[in-house]
Amino acid sequence: MEAAVKKRRILSGMRPTGKLHLGHLVGALENWVALQHEYQNFHLVADWHVLTTDYQRTDEIWENTVEMVTDWVAAGIDPKISPILVQSQVKEHAELHLIFSMLVTLSRLERNPAVKEQAKALGLEKVISYGHVGYPVLQAADILMYKANLVPVGEDQVPHVEITREIARKFNSLYGNVFPEPEAKLTKFARLPGLDRQRMSKSVGNTILMSDAPDEIWQKLRGAITDELKVRKGDPGRPEVCLIFTYHQKFNPGEVAEIERDCKSGALGCVDCKKHIHQKIVEYLAPIAERRAYYVSHREEVVAIIEDGTSRAREIARATMAEVHQAMKFG
Ligand code: TRP
Repeated sequence: MEAAVKKRRILSGMRPTGKLHLGHLVGALENWVALQHEYQNFHLVADWHVLTTDYQRTDEIWENTVEMVTDWVAAGIDPKISPILVQSQVKEHAELHLIFSMLVTLSRLERNPAVKEQAKALGLEKVISYGHVGYPVLQAADILMYKANLVPVGEDQVPHVEITREIARKFNSLYGNVFPEPEAKLTKFARLPGLDRQRMSKSVGNTILMSDAPDEIWQKLRGAITDELKVRKGDPGRPEVCLIFTYHQKFNPGEVAEIERDCKSGALGCVDCKKHIHQKIVEYLAPIAERRAYYVSHREEVVAIIEDGTSRAREIARATMAEVHQAMKFG
């Protein structure tokens, strides 16, 4: 009898930045949850990657890890079927990174548009660290360690997956076929805009957090700009420019047509429209909030989930490194 068909693998990763927001939920986590039965998923907390930009501040990395993993499981990731692992606790990642770092040229890394832009945004162009330029190589080690076939990422991370593919190809051609060539899987839903309509981001301060209480969510929505030209109820509105309408599209899809009509005609005022979406967002988040509350009061379970996932991942990492050693003819 043939064994059950082996599931294709996904490796997804995030830096631990603490509490997650609705942009993370809609842009990444929902996708992870949707794919967890069809594929074998591994979810990586990229804590070493934090050092690329924040090596001076390490005291919050572990706390941020626990916060982030709490949001992951609250979102519906089942850590029994999809191991959640912490990068810095699987030392094999560092070893594979070292080996891979010999298989890529410095000029190839310096050409990477994502790293270039990030360095520019942070004013680090002239003083970027060796580790920062090389972080896509560490990411390649994260991905290939688990022989992932797919990597769910946003547009900005596609160049890193390309470098990962090149490294896999180079390794395989030099030493023998060990690694698959993984593909980037772009996340479906376009990014959810933040309260100021820019990309939702903690550093900008325009987020709604997955962990915000209903009242906090209301305070945030209340202050958001809708359509500047719609000053009072009765004025015709332009849903296509309105943030709140975008939120209706995501969190209240069943009533979009009606809302569009009543906004345009002026029958629906912005305050009522906001109250309505507030209610819908709170309903949407209710099961997440319930699971989250449980894990917040059982922090030791979150830590145990991390330990368990990390030790399962470590087994696989050891097996991969044994293959790497053999292929390279290390003793
Ligand atoms: N580089 C990613 C980021 O900056 C995080 C990350 C690390 C990652 N390793 C990964 C993402 C592996 C996907 C796969 O957010």
